[in-house]
Amino acid sequence: MLVNKKILLCVSGGIAVYKAVALVSKLTQAGAHVKVIMTESARQFVNPLSFQVMSKNDVFYDTFDEKDSHVIAHIDLADWADLVLVAPATANVIGKLANGIADDMVTTTLLATTAPVWIAPAMNVHMYDHPAVLRNIDRLYADGIRFIEPSAGYLACGYVGKGRLEEPEKITALVSKFFEPQNLPLKGKQVIVSAGPTLERIDPVRYLSNFSSGKMGYAMAEAARDLGAAVTLVHGPVALPDPSGMTVIAIESAEQMLEAILSRYDAADYVIKAAAVADYRPKQAAQQKVKKQQGDTQMELERTPDILATLGAQKTHQLLIGFAAETNDVETYALDKLTRKNADYIIANDVSKTDRGFGADQNTVTLYGHDFVQHFPSTSKRALATQLLETIIAQSGVAK
Ligand code: PMT
Repeated sequence: MLVNKKILLCVSGGIAVYKAVALVSKLTQAGAHVKVIMTESARQFVNPLSFQVMSKNDVFYDTFDEKDSHVIAHIDLADWADLVLVAPATANVIGKLANGIADDMVTTTLLATTAPVWIAPAMNVHMYDHPAVLRNIDRLYADGIRFIEPSAGYLACGYVGKGRLEEPEKITALVSKFFEPQNLPLKGKQVIVSAGPTLERIDPVRYLSNFSSGKMGYAMAEAARDLGAAVTLVHGPVALPDPSGMTVIAIESAEQMLEAILSRYDAADYVIKAAAVADYRPKQAAQQKVKKQQGDTQMELERTPDILATLGAQKTHQLLIGFAAETNDVETYALDKLTRKNADYIIANDVSKTDRGFGADQNTVTLYGHDFVQHFPSTSKRALATQLLETIIAQSGVAK
């Protein structure tokens, strides 16, 4: 798959630079043409000559050192590549790219390229867990950049944890897979994702709702898009920008969410219900602001439609994936929802913990199917979304 493919390898500064030399060797052995750009700090770890010897090409590191007067080097390299790989990627280069900063040969080229960009991070475990780094990774995911997650193990800084650059053999295999035809498992599939809370009006100035930020649902929608699906995202009131490359429908109440999903249900192959739908609404929403009275008051509430259960009852060919947000007895409630709502999978969050679930940038969940269970350790919601979808696709095959 790699024969004659043009891979531009951007190397940033960390001890894992030595593995990037082996990566060039693997890629060239597999038939790829490789050109290398190094950051200033990468050159502190390995001499450019090593990359030159392995790639049999000039190595670039100075934006102003134009080797060929007919072209501008960073534009020429950006246009040349079939795939741009950043390995190892430091927190610094990830942060710069997430913020559109272009102040050296690597970052100017990354902004100039229209080729797919893959990032393989390597850093200290605490740096990788830092909210700023996770935020930047999420941002880059939203920009369509793909990540090769670091593996866990002994780190050069002495810690044991996640942060090791993935092995060159594994990176080469992933890159090779990318060039296989038909590598998008959801190509041609219609996926509906619901996200965020619903809002049930009490009167013109008050409402019932919950703490869902929409992040998990948006992550699922972006992951489905990047796996090739035509995605419709139906979301309640959230403070997130619309993701690109999908149909986005904003709703307010559970009733409106039901309507938006049901009208598209027949054509859907997958429905992912990440939304935190309010279970109750005021029986009678007041048309005018309710004035406060002396003493306590009571409000009569009625059930909202259970959207997932409605979809489960009307299911024909669709694969139905629900979420469960629980503070206790997570497994019992998740399995109950799986059968009672006729879902194919339930993704259970333990929302009694503050580092996951509502509002958090990371999540840790358990995926329940009928006769299937898998736990997913803490990672960014965007990375988790891809892992969940890939697991579901592998388990169930692509929906017909
Ligand atoms: O949005 P974030 O801040 O990123 O947080 C993510 C999340 C915690 C909201 C999300 O991951 C999650 O768990 N969503 C489901 C929350 C929820 O409402 O769970 P539930 O256990 O009450 O509902 C179970 C399932 O039934 C869900 O798929 C829900 O969408 C669905 N449901 C519930 C009630 C209802 N009236 N209609 C429904 O369709």
